Amino acid sequence: MFLESEEQQILNGEFGETRQQMMELLVGLGTVFGAERLVPIASAQVSGASYKTIGRWGLEWLQGLDARVAVPTVLNPIGMDRDRWREMGVPEEFAGKQEAVIDAYERLGIRLECTCTPYYLSNTHYGEHLAWAESSAVAYANSVIGARTNREGGPGALAAAIVGRTPYYGLHIFKNRQPSIGIAVDDPAAIKDAADYGALGYVAGKIVGNRIPLFSGIRPNRDHLKALGAAMAATGAVALYHVAGITPESRLPTFKAEVPETVEIRMAEVREVFSSIEVDAIAVGCPHLSPAEMETLAGLLEGKKVKKPFFVFAARGVIAGNRAAVERIERSGARVYADTCVVVSPALDRFDAIMVNSGKALAYVPTMCGAVARIGTMEECVAVATA
Ligand code: F3S
Repeated sequence: MFLESEEQQILNGEFGETRQQMMELLVGLGTVFGAERLVPIASAQVSGASYKTIGRWGLEWLQGLDARVAVPTVLNPIGMDRDRWREMGVPEEFAGKQEAVIDAYERLGIRLECTCTPYYLSNTHYGEHLAWAESSAVAYANSVIGARTNREGGPGALAAAIVGRTPYYGLHIFKNRQPSIGIAVDDPAAIKDAADYGALGYVAGKIVGNRIPLFSGIRPNRDHLKALGAAMAATGAVALYHVAGITPESRLPTFKAEVPETVEIRMAEVREVFSSIEVDAIAVGCPHLSPAEMETLAGLLEGKKVKKPFFVFAARGVIAGNRAAVERIERSGARVYADTCVVVSPALDRFDAIMVNSGKALAYVPTMCGAVARIGTMEECVAVATA
């Protein structure tokens, strides 16, 4: 793999041991995946931030690192709201460990925004190279924004953040971003709500695996695209998808819309994902809510009181910028938490059945929270919570 002189100096240890280790990791990754060189990145998003997922060994590894990140870097959601963890029901012992993880990341110069929607907080541009780790954020960055990132693991994203570069392979290269399977829906007009897109993604991800799908016929907005990509990244390994005429690369003259096969998904299959089981908690904000979704939820909860625990998750910066909507939501008894989410917080492990409006949460809640999951639209979530 070709290295520029400064990159070689980092590899030789001239900029300290941590940077050397990080460069070794990047060169190792690049060699495995056939990268010819490294490419500078505009930003990084690092996963492995919840103590629930990284545990003691991950924390000790982080505490041993001694360097600062070279590019703007944010964290994935952690296991609790940094300010309101007691109210969430997070055990004190867990909170202490989680604080230690946060401190370790802060020492590396990482911004303490813990979110899977970093694109709401700072501008990410078309064509930029990134090293993002959280799978829904990766799908959004590649597909909706047209930026370029592979689906990084936590250590790979952190190494890229510290070095400021990532191996140039996979989705960083334009010719690797063309679709490889078509997806059609028999009744596209019936796919309307984010939960419908989440359920569609839940079904499609299982068909697509790690291929790059091209959807035709559907007309999603940006929140719908977020839900679609998150679900496909969970039940499949989708890091990039296209929607004909909607996502930016599908509108390029160089886009190759011919695919070797097209699969039709029937609405009946999408509807089967929905159920009506009894639940004891509701959680929305997977991926973290956009300002528009927060406003919609505030309107739906107006003048109502929730009778079951209702968790709402969003980025700290989005909460700070939409205080009026947050207050309207919380007047109902629902709680809006920052920094964390339904899947990575231990606070939701105490429930037996959780209702979500997300295909990704539907896929992960059973294994990560040990609860049965039910998907419904935002309206249905509010109706169940207030009945
Ligand atoms: Fe984000 Fe957590 Fe869902 S990281 S995509 S809110 S599982």
